[in-house]
Amino acid sequence: MTASESIERAAEILRSAERVTVLTGAGISAESGLATFRDKEEGLWSKYDPMELAHIDAFHRDPELVTRWYHWRFTKARDCEPNAGHDALAQLQAWLREQKGELTLITQNVDGLHQRAGAKGVIEIHGTILTWRCLDTGAHYELDDIDFSSFPPRSEAGGLLRPNVVWFGEMLPPDALFAAEQAVSACDVFMSIGTSAAVWPAAGFIDVARANGAATMEVNLDPTPITASVDVSLLGKCGDVLPLLLEAAKG
Ligand code: OAD
Repeated sequence: MTASESIERAAEILRSAERVTVLTGAGISAESGLATFRDKEEGLWSKYDPMELAHIDAFHRDPELVTRWYHWRFTKARDCEPNAGHDALAQLQAWLREQKGELTLITQNVDGLHQRAGAKGVIEIHGTILTWRCLDTGAHYELDDIDFSSFPPRSEAGGLLRPNVVWFGEMLPPDALFAAEQAVSACDVFMSIGTSAAVWPAAGFIDVARANGAATMEVNLDPTPITASVDVSLLGKCGDVLPLLLEAAKG
């Protein structure tokens, strides 16, 4: 299939869909200027050790280092803008709603860019970097309300503050996981977008969707472990492919 035939095939599937579930990963935010994790040169995990920075034990061992790193990632996320891929997904969601369908967006990203592009009801299975919480009181804080003049930051109660992300060694938020699993089991189309499909449980969503009869699609710059088995593979940048797909679906 040529690239344009693949877009047309994917658009056809979307036009007849009632329930679309989308899983996104770091690739969709790459064109906003945020590094992915597993890119061989620029990926965060090629420069930093996740076990030193993104593990619950690392936080307890060295909260200053870990919170500095997450504060740095927060400032990067705050200072960038959603790109054409985020915009197209939010518009696809709105268009499907007009057609009496629905699109549930599950993301592994913690940057809030889908919401800033206008997507509704985003399920953040790895949490968010945009709010933090006090380990002593459990109170949640917006970034603007946190004093980052020294690290690790503390609440006014004196407790350590940590980002509301999911670290290695932690459970996914049960409500988000439940909502994601429901959306994955009930969809008639499942799309995997800008993710290496390497981290569980998200990596297994596509198999659950397929087992329940969903058509499957992937949008990725490069082939991944799921590319050979999806019904439609759209190779390219999210910011190029998703706007084309949106236009083709609208017809
Ligand atoms: P990865 O870095 O593993 O994968 C990013 C994917 O995006 C790769 O398959 C790239 O080929 C693809 N990609 C890069 N730029 C793209 C573009 N412009 N358009 C389309 N695709 C592009 O990131 P994730 O799959 O999100 O978890 O990683 C999953 C989880 O692993 C993260 O949430 C994080 C990480 O460890 C935690 O920190 C808990």
